Amino acid sequence: PESITVQELANRMAVRGADVIKCLMRLGVMASINQNIDADTAELVVTEFGHNMKRVSEADVLVGLEGDVDTDENLISRPPVVTIMGHVDHGKTSLLDALRETDVVSGEAGGITQHIGAYQVTMSTGGKITFIDTPGHEAFTAMRARGAKVTDIVVLVVAADDGIMPQTVEAIRHARAAQVPIIVAINKIDKPEANSNKVRQELLQHELVTEDLGGDVLAIEVSAKKRLNLEKLEEAILLQAEILDLKANPERVGQGVVIEAKMEKGRGSVATVLVQKGTLKVGDVFVAGAEWGRVRALVDDHGASIKEAGPSTPVEVLGLQGTPSAGDDFIAVEDEARAREIAGYRQRMDREAKAKLEQRGTLEEMFTAI
Ligand code: GTP
Ligand code: MG
Repeated sequence: PESITVQELANRMAVRGADVIKCLMRLGVMASINQNIDADTAELVVTEFGHNMKRVSEADVLVGLEGDVDTDENLISRPPVVTIMGHVDHGKTSLLDALRETDVVSGEAGGITQHIGAYQVTMSTGGKITFIDTPGHEAFTAMRARGAKVTDIVVLVVAADDGIMPQTVEAIRHARAAQVPIIVAINKIDKPEANSNKVRQELLQHELVTEDLGGDVLAIEVSAKKRLNLEKLEEAILLQAEILDLKANPERVGQGVVIEAKMEKGRGSVATVLVQKGTLKVGDVFVAGAEWGRVRALVDDHGASIKEAGPSTPVEVLGLQGTPSAGDDFIAVEDEARAREIAGYRQRMDREAKAKLEQRGTLEEMFTAI
């Protein structure tokens, strides 16, 4: 379904979010700044502001994909995308590293790995899980919010010697806002001061009732350091994934989200992309946020060059003309002309919004100077 957040709509019209909210209220729609509204409501708002709406940009891309509708028969099972969240230093990255060591594929490849913050682990059973790491430091709220949005399941890491801390609570909130199930990994149980019962009690206060207390939240006691119960955690993830019955159509054009993007010496702009639908192929022309490019190379999480990447695959994409932002959408389009058109439109919108902001800045300065 086509939709847009209130903030995004305000940005595109270069007006204040509060004004859009007021306008929506007049139309009888109660929405907060981050809430999604559908294309028809957006159109009403746009007309109210005296603009003519052409369904360009995002909507345009989607229109370009009409006829590409997924039916039951072209939807097939895909690996779950799991985001690891939790308070700083509770052991998220250590746990991921430990889980990666169980990866039979990386074992075969001699453990040559490349850290891209997103990996796919293949288990001995053949099952696959895609993991995304997030930072626990309080400064990275936006990254956590994005992490919760692109995922199917959140693994909440809580150190058994520290318990529920501010960013643990924040992670719970992000997961709830994104309506994503939570599996708790009670980590560092090897420590003498570990108290997993205390953690369970604290979880209760945040309405996460673990199985042993009569609820339905899976909580696994693990140690990333001593590699304890990692298989149990993987089993819990696969069990949850089975319930979610995750599917995607690999037969359409690649579409996904930018996890991170940066300029790299000798490689140009490199984006780590999570493919969510379809299959992304070398040679594909794409738009990522306000940038575009042609896929020159795809690099998997083992540093190997691959020809294509299907649903739930994290992959590094080379061949961008500029550097998109984390959280930007990523979609293959029919040709370069189309890619330039969409990217150009988005860049223009960004510039206009920025100019309006700066203008307002100077007006405010004028008033405060008086
Ligand atoms: P941020 O990304 O900064 O939020 O931290 P993090 O959650 O990724 O924690 P990280 O994996 O970096 O681990 C923090 C510290 O805890 C390191 O010193 C780890 O060695 C230690 N640690 C992680 N897991 C365990 C564990 O199971 N037992 C013990 N004893 N120490 C652990
Ligand atoms: Mg970390």
